[in-house]
This record gives sequence, C-alpha cells and structure tokens, in this order.
Amino acid sequence: MAQSSKSIVVPKSQFLQEQERELLERLDAELRGSGKMLPLCDARYLETHEIFEGRSNQQGLIIDWFSRFFQEHFRQPEPPEGTFRVLSVGCGSGILDLQLATRLSDQTQDFHYVGVDPNSVECDHFQGQFAGFASGQLGAQPQVEVVNKSFEDFEASCGFDLIHFVHSLYYMPDSAAALEKARRLLAPGGRIVFFQAPCEEMNALTVRFWDKEYARPTLFAEDLSDILEVQDWKYDRERINAFLEVSPLAYPDSSLGIALTDFIVQVDSLDLSEPVRNLITGYLKLISIRDEDEVYISHPVDAFVMGE
Ligand SMILES: C[S@@+](CC[C@H](N)C(=O)[O-])C[C@H]1O[C@@H](n2cnc3c(N)ncnc32)[C@H](O)[C@@H]1O
Repeated sequence: MAQSSKSIVVPKSQFLQEQERELLERLDAELRGSGKMLPLCDARYLETHEIFEGRSNQQGLIIDWFSRFFQEHFRQPEPPEGTFRVLSVGCGSGILDLQLATRLSDQTQDFHYVGVDPNSVECDHFQGQFAGFASGQLGAQPQVEVVNKSFEDFEASCGFDLIHFVHSLYYMPDSAAALEKARRLLAPGGRIVFFQAPCEEMNALTVRFWDKEYARPTLFAEDLSDILEVQDWKYDRERINAFLEVSPLAYPDSSLGIALTDFIVQVDSLDLSEPVRNLITGYLKLISIRDEDEVYISHPVDAFVMGE
C-alpha cells in the first residue's frame, strides 16, 4: 500500500464529530431492534481477514516492531542461550507468523514456534504457509507447529520466552483469565506482547457489532491498560499509527467492498437490514480521508510489553 498514507494528518472539525456521533446513535437505535447477526464462518473469516490486512500497512509495522524486539533480545555480547520458544496466541492463517519467524531466523535458527488457534481452516492454512520454512533453512532446524485449540484449552510442558497476542485478546471470553494463563506459561525472563486496537474511529463502529454478537463488552487497548493497572502488572505501551486503504467501500456491493465491510463489522453484512448497511457505509465514508486516488481510514494499534 502507498507509503504516503503514513503522513496523512487528520484535522477533525466539531461538525464532523457531531455527524459521526449522530450516525452511531442512529445505528444503535437500528441495532436495538434487530435480531441475531450471522457470524462469519471460519473460511469467510480467513478470506476477509487476508483482504483487510492486505490493504493496511499495520501488519508491516508490527513485523518491523518484532524485528527490533528480536534484535534487542539477541544483541551481542551476551546473546541468550538455549532454544528460543515463541507462542503465538490466535495465530490465524500464519501470514503474520511466517514473517515473524523469518525475522527471528535472522537472529537464531534455534527456536520453537508454536501457534494456537481454534479456527481449523486457519490452522490448515498456517501449516501450508510454513510447509517450506524449516526445510529451506541451513544448519539448526527451527521447529514450527500449530495447535488447533482455543487458548483456554491449550497447555504446554515448558515455558515460552515470548508469548504474543496480535489482535486476538478481544475474542477471549475471560481476558483476565487469559492474562493469568499467559503469565503462567511464561519462561523466566520472558515477555508477553499484546497488539490491541484502541476503540477509536473505526472501532467505534466495530464495537457496536462485537458487543452484540458476543454479548459482552469488547476489550480494547484502553481496557487492557485498566486491567494491567488494577493487577499492578508493569508494562510499556506504544502507539503504532497505521492506515487502511478503503477505496472499494465506494462500491459497497462489490466483492471487495463487502469483504472489507464484513471484516470491519465481523458479521455477514449482507444479512443486515438495508438501513443498517447504509449507516455502516455512511459512517465509514465520514471517517475516511482521501489522499490523491486512494482513500484511507485510520488503523492504529497499541503494542503492550509485559515481563513476568
Ligand atoms: C484478527 S485474527 C489475528 C490473527 C493473527 N494473530 C494475525 O495478526 O494475523 C484473531 C484470531 O484469534 C483467533 N481466536 C479467537 N478466539 C480464540 C481463542 N479463544 N483462543 C485463541 N485464538 C482465538 C481467531 O480464530 C483468529 O484467527
């Protein structure tokens, strides 16, 4: 995606903020009377997630962030000894993990990379992504495996040096329990990393659907901070500003427009009523920024790093 998007400045008038608020209020009123929404099936989730990520520069920035993290960890003169063990919680299709494992292999070949995810279609894809990975390397062979389970059902016999949750903590019904479990699975000196989105422009829309679909409040970056503060767990938090290119949303009935909308609201958007669909389109247009021929929506994420 275009690099120029990184320099977009978003001045927002009070008038625009009021319009956004008004559209969201109308959406709330429509959703209050609506029935159950159709969640995305495993295959559709994978398809729309890949389209969504492919139009955002966020994943590239996350990979660069991890690359710096690995460089720091393995910095001479005293690089750590032993196998470096990574757990990717909610690994999905492995599009991100393959890049992370490749960056990690620049530092060491002695690592064990485990992905865990309850979506079986994504786990199959993960396996496919990594099929040529270990055999393509020289010397010590990294080990990679994917476990088709929820994090709640996952267990391991030894601790991990890095446990990361990239956009996956929202999906766990008991986030505090997931945090406790991650701490328990951490090796001495290990780190837990969360990439969690704030509930800002785009997610002010998403949250309306997630909260209804899962019948609980969605945990965003600000809520994660609150949990960590209450537990008195030390952490660092860093904002990463990214942008999602959304020009297909100008054609809401196109396959790309529908795919982007489906992933943003995380339900089958064609199953929603026409007024709800129009409000979604209207809101996404309001928060879009035009930059030459491309149209962007702000797509920030916060990186949280915790020790033991
Ligand atoms: C937005 S995707 C992120 C995938 C990957 N980390 C990435 O950034 O490309 C969220 C993933 O969390 C997974 N997930 C949902 N509930 C989960 C649970 N209880 N335990 C582990 N993963 C879960 C979903 O199946 C999905 O693949």
